[in-house]
Amino acid sequence: MLSICFISKALMSRNKKFFIKTYGCQMNSYDSDRIAEILLLAGHIKTSLPEDADIVVINTCNVREKAQEKLFSDLGRIALIKAKAAEKGRSVIILVVGCVAQALGKEIFARADCVDIVLGPQAYQNIQKSIEEVISQKQCPEVKMQKNFIVDTTMSAEDKFKLLPRNRTLVKLPSAFISIQEGCDKFCTYCSVPYTRGREYSRPTSEIISEANQLVSSGAREIFLLGQNVSAYNGKYSSSAVCSFTELLFLISSIKGVERIRYTTSHPCDITTELMKAHKEISSLMPFIHLPAQSGSDIILKKMNRGYSRSQYIKIINEFRKILPNIAFSSDFIVGFPGETETDFEATCALVDEVSYAQAYSFKYSPRPQTPSSKWDQIDEQTKIRRLAVLQEIINKHQLHYNQSMEGKELLVLIEKEGRYENQVIGKTEYMQSVHLSAPKNFIGKVFPVKISRGFQNSLSGKLVG
Ligand code: 5AD
Ligand code: SF4
Repeated sequence: MLSICFISKALMSRNKKFFIKTYGCQMNSYDSDRIAEILLLAGHIKTSLPEDADIVVINTCNVREKAQEKLFSDLGRIALIKAKAAEKGRSVIILVVGCVAQALGKEIFARADCVDIVLGPQAYQNIQKSIEEVISQKQCPEVKMQKNFIVDTTMSAEDKFKLLPRNRTLVKLPSAFISIQEGCDKFCTYCSVPYTRGREYSRPTSEIISEANQLVSSGAREIFLLGQNVSAYNGKYSSSAVCSFTELLFLISSIKGVERIRYTTSHPCDITTELMKAHKEISSLMPFIHLPAQSGSDIILKKMNRGYSRSQYIKIINEFRKILPNIAFSSDFIVGFPGETETDFEATCALVDEVSYAQAYSFKYSPRPQTPSSKWDQIDEQTKIRRLAVLQEIINKHQLHYNQSMEGKELLVLIEKEGRYENQVIGKTEYMQSVHLSAPKNFIGKVFPVKISRGFQNSLSGKLVG
């Protein structure tokens, strides 16, 4: 009996169609690409239609409650697809991976019994093995009647990166992500990341450089470094030396073919003078920084455990601007944090006016399990909704003004993809603005000077120079 199970497992666990849906940040998007690479390497085939898939992977986000709710409504739809496939004798394996998988673990099976496998963000390397196990369970008569679920919420970023395939086969061109660091030790009182992604881990420098080299030889022109807190990067350089984030930027800039370098996210407390200077010294390092402030009120910043005051944050912005006057900033803000008064909220609005961000994201505070602030007195929903609308209007005003200030200027644009209309392409300025322009398709992947004709709320339009 065992040998029959073994043969069927080997035969049945390849050539399946898989579908991946990704929620959340760029790190999840990077992880989904790595998962796809593992599945392709195992002989499976990617599909963009969940109805066709034998393996459905949902890569989840736990930062706000809304993202978690979306997972369960998706699972409702996928359960129907699974039931329909079963009627036709086809079995579908459903995997929930990522931060909700880490946070809820086996509770997910109780809420959605269509799920077969739950893998935390540091257990992706085991994905094919888990699929093989489920297939062999389904094939073996002795276990067919009982449903065995697989949960892997091991927390070892080191193992994850060590065991992921060395070769990158799915490269988004011309801008390619590399995760350089994972997890966070900051423990902001609202944030679930330290509980789902674990403690800070920096990948060894040589591993990152080799991945960057590989991406460039596959056609990447922009390297986008990712991490929950990249500015705290301190990866092993050699057996005795540690590489700082700034040193890593210099190393990546020396790779032939890297025309642009970007990174996200940075914590204000880890910004060094060296990093500020690097923005002037490295011409390929883009003059755009995502530097989440979260609040403009000292009282709230303290309650959030952010580790800086409003004036310290402003000082960093001003120092950056002194070194590189054209540098642009984006930020994240949370409204309705427990205890936030009207005065605290006004301080946040005033900060946005003072910094005048090129763009910014803003969120209603969402109490997350395990976080200290989820146990404090909460602000009512109506106040959160109102404050969010007010803040977003101020953010939009600055973004529009910033985009309009580009009119008549010549900007360097990396052409990234085709547009919706014939002969239209879309690119990015150094300041992360999308630009629509007319150019042949073969310009994709190259940098061109573009004269900006109009600045809109979320994009620019322009014409190739010359
Ligand atoms: N509620 C609302 N927004 C949050 N963020 C993180 N945790 C929460 C929460 N509990 C926001 C922060 C962070 C961004 C990625 O998500 O602004 O910078
Ligand atoms: Fe979360 Fe704070 Fe760490 Fe950012 S710095 S990931 S908000 S704990």
